[in-house]
Amino acid sequence: MIERTVLAPGHEMSRLIRGGWQLAGDHGPVERDSLNDGFLAFFDAGITTLDCADIYTGVEAMIGDFRRHLLNARGAEALTRLKVHTKFVPDLDKLGSLSFTDVEAIIDRSRARLGMDRLDLVQFHWWDYGQGDPLAALHHLQRLQADGRIAHIAGTNFDAPHLAQFAAGGVPLASIQVQYSLLDRRPAGAFTATAAASGTGIICYGALAGGFLAERWLGVADPAETLTNRSLIKYRLIIEECGGWDRFQALLGVLAGIAAAHAVPLSAVAARWVLDQPGVAAIIIGARSAAHLADTLAIAALRLSAEDRAAIAVALPPCPPGDVYTLERDREGRHGRIMKYGLNKG
Ligand SMILES: NC(=O)c1ccc[n+]([C@@H]2O[C@H](COP(=O)([O-])OP(=O)(O)OC[C@H]3O[C@@H](n4cnc5c(N)ncnc54)[C@H](OP(=O)(O)O)[C@@H]3O)[C@@H](O)[C@H]2O)c1
Repeated sequence: MIERTVLAPGHEMSRLIRGGWQLAGDHGPVERDSLNDGFLAFFDAGITTLDCADIYTGVEAMIGDFRRHLLNARGAEALTRLKVHTKFVPDLDKLGSLSFTDVEAIIDRSRARLGMDRLDLVQFHWWDYGQGDPLAALHHLQRLQADGRIAHIAGTNFDAPHLAQFAAGGVPLASIQVQYSLLDRRPAGAFTATAAASGTGIICYGALAGGFLAERWLGVADPAETLTNRSLIKYRLIIEECGGWDRFQALLGVLAGIAAAHAVPLSAVAARWVLDQPGVAAIIIGARSAAHLADTLAIAALRLSAEDRAAIAVALPPCPPGDVYTLERDREGRHGRIMKYGLNKG
């Protein structure tokens, strides 16, 4: 049974979300012929929420196609249970001049690709706090909300001061999507308290550290510079921030012991820990197909004991420094250098 939550009025959703970045390329092959079967398998299992973005190449259109498939296969009531979370990620070079018309064009393009008159949830991202005015952009989104094109406005990768600023400026976010895992615990504490103060649910990516928090990496040598998968490249840097490969292996060893005792995959222990953190509304699990569906359902069934949590607490490696996404905002730093800042064109 997949737990459900009401994120905002009228927005009931599964606490496990299937992520769409892994379908956008650079994450290994995607079998397009079986995409709808895969989406349907997740939906039928109770994972009725999908995460995507305007900048995940082709993924909004894939989900638009799945919405039609779902309507045909399961009917109109099923379609109302599907929640689609997309993102609004204006390009870096647009931030200084972003107008209502620019925002409207991107939102209308998402509506067309997804086949939705009204987007369920739009998660807003801003590459650089030093350029333009994110609050003004949020007010543009509010105009589109007022005329029925967006149901709920949310954010991604904003730090605690910006969450507070947006709430004070009249745009409390329904949710905030941030990286949160056993490795990256930056959202714990002050950030969680700030989100709670504006009724903002935390939605987490990276709960599996791009797939690193799984049996297949236990006892394996550091892959260092050999990786080609976009997620693994990103989270390999996070492992470095957390004390390096040996500390990571020590954590994996403890998780493996807990997983064996519960007869679940290691990934389920890692993901369940995140889902149980205060303020966490949901976690996103990235999958290219339904191959990991059974592993993902194990997260829902698992209950960690006090002893499990104590053992995990002792094994936690150092947390990356700063507020959420602060390291990543430095475009000259090693985290910022691997990002793509202009995917909204075209
Ligand atoms: N807002 C942002 O800035 C941001 C950034 C990153 C991601 N996201 C969102 O979060 C989603 C998740 O991405 P992520 O980077 O955080 O990746 P992740 O979910 O931590 O890891 C995905 C990887 O784990 C594997 N996997 C999937 N389910 C599994 C399971 N139950 N057990 C073991 N392994 C499993 C997948 O394998 P296969 O390749 O075999 O399927 C994939 O390689 C994305 O799709 C996207 O929607 C948002």
